[in-house]
Amino acid sequence: MKLSSAFLQQIRDDVAFCSSLHYLEETTSTNAVLKQMALEGMPEGAVVLAARQTEGRGRLGRSFFSPEGGLYMSVLFRPTASVQNPLMLTAAAAVAVSRAVDNVFSVESQIKWVNDIYVDGKKVCGILAEGQIDPNEPDRPAVVLGIGVNICAPKEGFPPEIADRAGALTDGDEPDCEQLARFVKEILNNLYVDYVRLEEKNFLSEYRNRSFLTGKTVQYQKNGRTRSAEVVGIDDEARLVVLEEGQETALFAGEVQLLNY
Ligand code: BTN
Repeated sequence: MKLSSAFLQQIRDDVAFCSSLHYLEETTSTNAVLKQMALEGMPEGAVVLAARQTEGRGRLGRSFFSPEGGLYMSVLFRPTASVQNPLMLTAAAAVAVSRAVDNVFSVESQIKWVNDIYVDGKKVCGILAEGQIDPNEPDRPAVVLGIGVNICAPKEGFPPEIADRAGALTDGDEPDCEQLARFVKEILNNLYVDYVRLEEKNFLSEYRNRSFLTGKTVQYQKNGRTRSAEVVGIDDEARLVVLEEGQETALFAGEVQLLNY
């Protein structure tokens, strides 16, 4: 997704949290680029945007399909000890993106735990937080939050392995540049509001209201066993609460893999 220098300047001017903005037409992975910048001392609030990625990274070591027509963005955080819970940061980011999607594209998006954004039952956005210890500031690890959004569907269609699940926000081939700049600004501004008050967990009620899985039956894998349970909600630690054989269990994103829903 190409952004003109005027729009990039508008993002810099209108987003107080954005300490620097780096735009690349093509890169391997905005997360990889920003992690390297973080190692070299880049301050919090740095943002890397790309029009396409050749090695986009997804969760669980998967790759993230990143053709032209999507928005690929990474944001650098250097949280203090009290806000170093990565599950909370990704949950806050999911709310920030979901709200921006609704406002800018006039749709009703939902959050599929833990951090995918769905519109009309299709995944339109994935979020990946990656942490790394900074040797210069070991008490404040760098957290790179990567957001990948399918703005337009690829001309050649989505690859077969994701074709049944993936969707896009608009039908057009070309994104509207002004709309895109508004979208980026809204994501970053929403994100900042929740980040500075992460401990208050204000975003959790909206997360619950937007939860795509609540009320659905999910299959998940834990300790090598496949189980099936009904999702009853999201708890105060942003864990998925399921009802299984009459008992409620809270699941961590790292311990389970959702298979089906
Ligand atoms: C997922 O759905 O598994 C998470 C996908 C996260 C993709 C974004 S795109 C921008 C940033 N750079 C990457 O390489 N990955 C994230």
